[in-house]
Amino acid sequence: MRKPLVAGNWKMNGTRESARTLLDGIKAGAMAVNGADLAVCVPYVFLQQVQEALDGSPIAWGGQDLSKEPKGAFTGDISAAMLLEFGCRFVIVGHSERRTLHGESDTEVAEKTAAALEAGLTPIVCVGETLEEREQDVTNDVVGRQLDAVLARVGSAGLGRCVVAYEPVWAIGTGRTATPEQAQEVHAFIRARVAAEDAEVAGALKILYGGSMKPDNAAELCAKPDIDGGLIGGASLVAEDFLAIGRAA
Ligand code: G3P
Repeated sequence: MRKPLVAGNWKMNGTRESARTLLDGIKAGAMAVNGADLAVCVPYVFLQQVQEALDGSPIAWGGQDLSKEPKGAFTGDISAAMLLEFGCRFVIVGHSERRTLHGESDTEVAEKTAAALEAGLTPIVCVGETLEEREQDVTNDVVGRQLDAVLARVGSAGLGRCVVAYEPVWAIGTGRTATPEQAQEVHAFIRARVAAEDAEVAGALKILYGGSMKPDNAAELCAKPDIDGGLIGGASLVAEDFLAIGRAA
């Protein structure tokens, strides 16, 4: 009942030439991915190129962050409206690299989520614990706190227009993937937390896994009942790997 979504997060990678090659490769193989939706979330500077390449294709695209403000004196920021200018459907919000490297608070992530929803974008809201928090056995406290901040700001109806991505920080870029059981446990916790607010929203909510999802582990992860696809970093920069994950999801 929830069609899987496999979204690539290119992070701060690529050139116009490498983006062209990657997009050509993904487009060439997209028709063979029929069990999952595909999307790429790219650096702002490639959005026009991505829009021109993917317009009319089954592949969606988006940004990796946005301002919580609609417009104004916010040097270096990008607004939801600007993302819409380039046909974005998605925007990643609250990625752990922004939470840690840019000091984004739970409140700021919630405000950014609201700004994205207000503009008609689909936020991919990232939550996840650090290795220290997992070792302290406070994973659900952390993920619950991050999720509750968004629920408090946009309500269950708003969250129903989002995608959630569980990304254990210790699995991002490390090659140390959460086991399917570890991931399922947190995904089920997230779904139960939302169900306490609205069972219908919880049942329809796509919860992606992110953190070293690769072609060789995607099928086992996505076979879990509460894992609805992936948010892919490194493997999304290789067309065949990204497509293989899409076929496995
Ligand atoms: O947003 C997805 C990203 O954080 C996962 O990165 O390289 O572990 O797939 P990676």
